[in-house]
Amino acid sequence: MKFNQDFIDKLKTAKSVVFFTGAGISAESGVPTFRGKEGLWKKFKPQELANFDAFIRNPDLVWEWYQYRRKIVEEANPNPGHLAIVEMGKYFEDVSVITQNVDDLHNRAGSKNVYELHGNIERNYCIDCEAIYNTNELEVTGKAPRCKKCGGLIRPDIVWFGEPIPQSIFSAAELKAKNSDICFVVGTTAIIYPAASIPRLAKEDGAYLVEINIEPTEISHWVDYSLIGKSGEILPEILAEIRSFH
Ligand code: OAD
Ligand code: ZN
Repeated sequence: MKFNQDFIDKLKTAKSVVFFTGAGISAESGVPTFRGKEGLWKKFKPQELANFDAFIRNPDLVWEWYQYRRKIVEEANPNPGHLAIVEMGKYFEDVSVITQNVDDLHNRAGSKNVYELHGNIERNYCIDCEAIYNTNELEVTGKAPRCKKCGGLIRPDIVWFGEPIPQSIFSAAELKAKNSDICFVVGTTAIIYPAASIPRLAKEDGAYLVEINIEPTEISHWVDYSLIGKSGEILPEILAEIRSFH
């Protein structure tokens, strides 16, 4: 792919780079996105599963839905897009990943400085005493597991609809976005707030905004550069470009 000169110049001078990622970056690992043709929310309604009231009403059903998603994620591996981001860490002073994904694939790829805005599907906690449990510490049955300390229900450590993003994580992510020289927006519809404010904040503070998506999105008209294609292909091409001048 031939990149435009503005972008290449930015790649040459940038010190701080942020990747704001969504479900699309994991699509090539075989993890379904939420809103596409095959998207998870086409088959399941978020209001019935991804919120606290639904969990209290039917913890076993919600638990079963997360077990289904955990299985997909555990069988998946980071793809060339995740790995290219890790490699780019060698060429810039500061590379951060601000992700809406809960699939752990950035961590498993080896990225440092990962800000998980919506939690992590492998982590869980007791709704009564807040004791933390990794999924592999829990016995998998058809029922929602109970806390070994207090008997409370254990829920996935995921930010559900109607719940806030933990303040410390969001503030740190905002600061990274504001201080970035380039902000890549990768594989996200960028419509779920407050997470979706990250690209706007970055641009307002002077970052060069680059979108990578298989199709135009609601933010395509105001980004600096829109690259249409698969992130597992375009990110390695950007890495190759960076390497060509180092
Ligand atoms: P979406 O499912 O809304 O969007 C996925 C985006 O990825 C779409 O814009 C696709 O066009 C794009 N895409 C698909 N395959 C791609 C590929 N190979 N390369 C590049 N782009 C690709 O997912 P998110 O934007 O992540 O919240 O959704 C945001 C939040 O909504 C999620 O974090 C989740 C959901 O409700 C929680 O779980 C709290
Ligand atoms: Zn407990």
